[in-house]
Amino acid sequence: MPVGIDDISFYTANFSLDLQELAANNGSDAAKYTVGIGQERMSVPGADEDVVTMAANACVPLLEGMAQRGEGTNAINTILFATETGIDQSKAAGVYLHSLLKLNPRCRVVELKQACYSATAALQLATAWVARKPQEKVLVVASDIARYDRQTPGEATQGCGAVAMIVSANPRLVALDPETGIHTEDVMDFWRPNYRSTALVDGKYSTKVYLRCVRSAWQDFQQQSQLQFGNFDYFCYHLPFSRMAQKAHNHLANGNAHELSAQALEDQISSSLIYNRITGNSYTAAMYIGLISLLDNTALDLAGKRVGFFSYGSGSVGEFFTGTLVDGYQSMLHSEGHQSMLASRKPLNYAEYQTMYGFEVPVDGGDHAFAEQTNGKFRLAGISQHKRLYEAR
Ligand code: CAA
Repeated sequence: MPVGIDDISFYTANFSLDLQELAANNGSDAAKYTVGIGQERMSVPGADEDVVTMAANACVPLLEGMAQRGEGTNAINTILFATETGIDQSKAAGVYLHSLLKLNPRCRVVELKQACYSATAALQLATAWVARKPQEKVLVVASDIARYDRQTPGEATQGCGAVAMIVSANPRLVALDPETGIHTEDVMDFWRPNYRSTALVDGKYSTKVYLRCVRSAWQDFQQQSQLQFGNFDYFCYHLPFSRMAQKAHNHLANGNAHELSAQALEDQISSSLIYNRITGNSYTAAMYIGLISLLDNTALDLAGKRVGFFSYGSGSVGEFFTGTLVDGYQSMLHSEGHQSMLASRKPLNYAEYQTMYGFEVPVDGGDHAFAEQTNGKFRLAGISQHKRLYEAR
């Protein structure tokens, strides 16, 4: 019985900053961003959006689809919420999500963390659960806001986004294979202590560790699976910035794909990079936004095509796994909704970006209502006595 991703959708913040605007104001050459790291824009969250509202907004098309098909949501009895932008040290963000989506109370909810990797842990746990209980479905959510100190090399790679996936038996989108390659190594390439709102990163070292991890996870994958590099049609990599995927793909191909031209290698990843270029890094969600980008932006029928995924979380854990596109997967896509959401983001000038970057959630325990900056179905209405107040529109 195949198990995998039955439906997938993503959401990003309502505002964006063009990296040309960033470069014009911080003295960088814009080509360093557009060519050197391969990014054009970053999504910037408003004060009334956070990982919960982005996650809930990412879930809307999935739940609407289920309602239209008369499926109902009672089969969803587990929510796995992956994030490294936690809003509470105790309560799982997924419990707020469960409430906003009005899901069945007979549902287990938990939050997972291991930098950008934890959505993949969630996906693998979900497939194992569904394999055991095929009548049940798992909602896997990845939602993050990538934030670095101002005027640091990481600033241009900021961004945000959320992905929601329904994991089920007999999936209508991607059937996942059980064999995976895994590599864990204790390194300090990127981390965020509890007392900081911005990540600390040893940037160039982090790119080296990422590449080392691709190779190690692939080597383990080859011990677990008969599949060779030539058996794959497309690849999706974790996307801190799009050039990283190009480097990783060339690194993996080196020694594995002598017969493929540089163009052929580029064709295996280029569609997966399109959305990331204009949203920026979204940590746990990034690779899965890459998958959606591949599906939304490839005119060819991908049914039967095999995709290789490399998920990387600093610190570090990496996993290489695979999936095959299912016949008729096109009926499950939400391409128009994704594209109109991206097109409707409000561009910020540098001053507006500085103001939005400077916003900090009040921590005084008072009653604070947040202005309506955003237009998603769900928003963070305010904070009162240290409690987050969400609302649906
Ligand atoms: N025109 C064209 N290219 C240019 C250029 C110009 N004018 N100026 C510079 N470049 C090129 C450089 O040659 C370089 O290319 P190569 O990597 O191919 O050599 C590229 O642009 C970047 O230039 P620098 O190395 O000088 O850039 P930097 O010092 O400013 O830092 C970075 C780059 C380390 C990635 C930094 O953006 C960073 O710290 N980012 C955050 C950390 C990160 O994303 N790490 C990725 C791996 S960790 C991970 O994946 C987890 C995660 O999500 C964070």
